[in-house]
Amino acid sequence: MIGPFAGLASRGLFVFDPETAHGLSITALKTGLVPTCRIANDPRLAQTIAGITFPNPLGLAAGYDKNAEVPDAMLKLGFGFTEVGTVTPKPQAGNDKPRIFRLVEDRGVINRLGFNNEGHEAAFARLSARHNAPGIVGVNIGANKDTADRVADYVAGIRKFYALATYFTVNISSPNTPGLRDLQARDSLKTLLEAVLAARAEEGLRYGRTVPVFLKIAPDLTEEGLDDIASEATSHPLDGLIVSNTTLSRDGLKDQIQAKEAGGLSGVPLFKRSTVMLAKMRKRVGPALPIIGVGGVSSATDALEKIRAGADLVQLYSCMVYEGPSLPATILKGLSSLLDREKLSSIREIRDTRLDQWAAEKL
Ligand code: FNR
Repeated sequence: MIGPFAGLASRGLFVFDPETAHGLSITALKTGLVPTCRIANDPRLAQTIAGITFPNPLGLAAGYDKNAEVPDAMLKLGFGFTEVGTVTPKPQAGNDKPRIFRLVEDRGVINRLGFNNEGHEAAFARLSARHNAPGIVGVNIGANKDTADRVADYVAGIRKFYALATYFTVNISSPNTPGLRDLQARDSLKTLLEAVLAARAEEGLRYGRTVPVFLKIAPDLTEEGLDDIASEATSHPLDGLIVSNTTLSRDGLKDQIQAKEAGGLSGVPLFKRSTVMLAKMRKRVGPALPIIGVGGVSSATDALEKIRAGADLVQLYSCMVYEGPSLPATILKGLSSLLDREKLSSIREIRDTRLDQWAAEKL
């Protein structure tokens, strides 16, 4: 644990409802209350993926810093990269409260926020204010609930943030915007990827820099659904996949009361499903396409398992709610210890070492 904020985050903040606690933690981070991670950079954890040199493989997943308020504070906690958003062109309020639920016994979270965010303009202003600051900041883009043209909303995100994003995530996998996941169907995905990647190519020429684009998918896909996404992902100049978003499944939960809440489930109960998906996707796309593994990572062991199942990089969000802001530093220390123990010179050497076992699991 780092200082008093850790105790506050992992215990004190639990006296507040989850959304208030989230707001308070953002305020604390903005005021600089959270100390810097004091772990020295371990060069064995660094890798170049999709042309970006990541100092370590652990990132903050989208949804915590929806409005780009605290990217630098998150990087200071030790994360090798952070992802802001999902941002939509227009501000939107999201669904009615309450809309975040803790499943404490399961170490899970259910949310049905529905892309509440302040819109492109607000995030753009904040990211502009830190333009050229060091650190990898991805921008996760989405569509407004009431938009007449979803594809146009994603294209607008690429154009708006092109100069400011280290990478983009095209999020088509939130379960909380009706119809959004339909964009994962083959024909819709083809149309979306063509439009987004054409906009990226145009902006790339204008700025003289190609910003990588990742596609974030759901963990609730069938084998056929995975086949379709893999085919589209490999037939367009997409830079990688993020596997996965939250699940609609409620399998194996102890807390049967909160489990009845509608929304996407994340945290520990998502670990297995999202890791199986990741491995199945790695099998389909082959070794070259970058994949970011996300879902239920709560320790260095979990992060390693994602890499063994085929991930190049790993992200987390929900388990920090339970473990506090020292979690990234703890995980990084654990990763370095493993490399010491196994006498490895790079984290990359463990990728895919349990791919077959994970991919063989039933969905
Ligand atoms: C999310 N997640 C998410 N993902 C995304 O692409 N855009 C978003 O706006 C959000 N919002 C969001 C809010 C809340 C409260 C949670 C808990 C999650 C999903 C998140 O990025 C991640 O994919 C999943 O939560 C799985 O990882 P964890 O949380 O189990 O580590």
